[in-house]
Amino acid sequence: MKEAIEQIFKELEQLKASSQKEAEEARVRFLGKKGEITALMEQFRTIAPEMKREYGQKLNQLKKEALAKIEELRASAEASVQADAPKEDLTMPGDAMPLGSRHPVSIVRQEIVDIFRKAGYNVAEGPEIEDDYHVFEALNFPPNHPAREMQDTFFVSTGHLNPLLLRTHTSSVQVRTMESQELPIRVICPGRVFRNEAISARAHCIFHQVEGLYIDKNVTFADLKQAILVFAREMFGPDTEIRMRPSYFPFTEPSAEVDVSCNICHGKGCNICKGTGWLEIMGCGMVDPNVLKASGIDPEIYSGFAFGMGVERIAMLKWQVNDLRHYFENDMRFLGEFATATEV
Ligand code: DAH
Repeated sequence: MKEAIEQIFKELEQLKASSQKEAEEARVRFLGKKGEITALMEQFRTIAPEMKREYGQKLNQLKKEALAKIEELRASAEASVQADAPKEDLTMPGDAMPLGSRHPVSIVRQEIVDIFRKAGYNVAEGPEIEDDYHVFEALNFPPNHPAREMQDTFFVSTGHLNPLLLRTHTSSVQVRTMESQELPIRVICPGRVFRNEAISARAHCIFHQVEGLYIDKNVTFADLKQAILVFAREMFGPDTEIRMRPSYFPFTEPSAEVDVSCNICHGKGCNICKGTGWLEIMGCGMVDPNVLKASGIDPEIYSGFAFGMGVERIAMLKWQVNDLRHYFENDMRFLGEFATATEV
């Protein structure tokens, strides 16, 4: 038995394995059910009691060493597998990730804002959940006035004097600006608005507007006309003409609707302008003295103009999109059409 133990110690010392498989074979050979060390353990039971102490220690040590050696062989076989594994090729081209693009409504809103910023307007914003006072009352819509029905409203809370509602137009930001800013005022107010309307190709319950307001001494209708002409030419091209048609809004007097010459048929008449040669783009007018007064501005000293336009409408005209719903459905094929427009 002594020789057998010595022999195995020697063999363990020289043991080598170049793979996991060989390391496992070595384990089976020494420590498996029929392994050499296992066999010596069996024999140990039969030896004379006075020799048990000596052999017991030796055998235990042998087993410990065998386990350690096999573990070492496993680890080095594993390391060599990893070292031999093919390295990643860092020169390979990467996987292209599809890049998003800005939404067409954002592109046009930014374009509108940039045109007016160049003319000295600052951006002003206000809350989407507004109160009746800022959306209607301060804008000269008297209580129960039929003009309130021009805009079907989503109410958030009713039953008291100044109900909360989703703003139906960005004109409410005019009021907030007049309340909080020093005169003169020159602001552009982009934002989301909400109306209780059935969704169709030409109407949606959520859309975007840009409002403009200019208040100073001696502001006239001629200034309004010039501001809009400059905007129309920047937006639709230098040959664009504008015309104004008398209209009615409670917050402006006089009020007008603005048309631009059709940039598709150049006035000849096509199906986009329905044969008229003109496309409606916004409402505007001179700020009603009652509106100035409501916000504490003296209409004897100051005057101003205001205008408001729908962003989706401008975008539809610019890109000849004939259905408003495209802007809200987020169909990637539609949105992808504007990828290059984003880079401009
Ligand atoms: N608030 C109007 C609307 O939602 C648009 C508008 C018209 C705004 C005339 C104005 C304006 O500032 O002067 O239809």
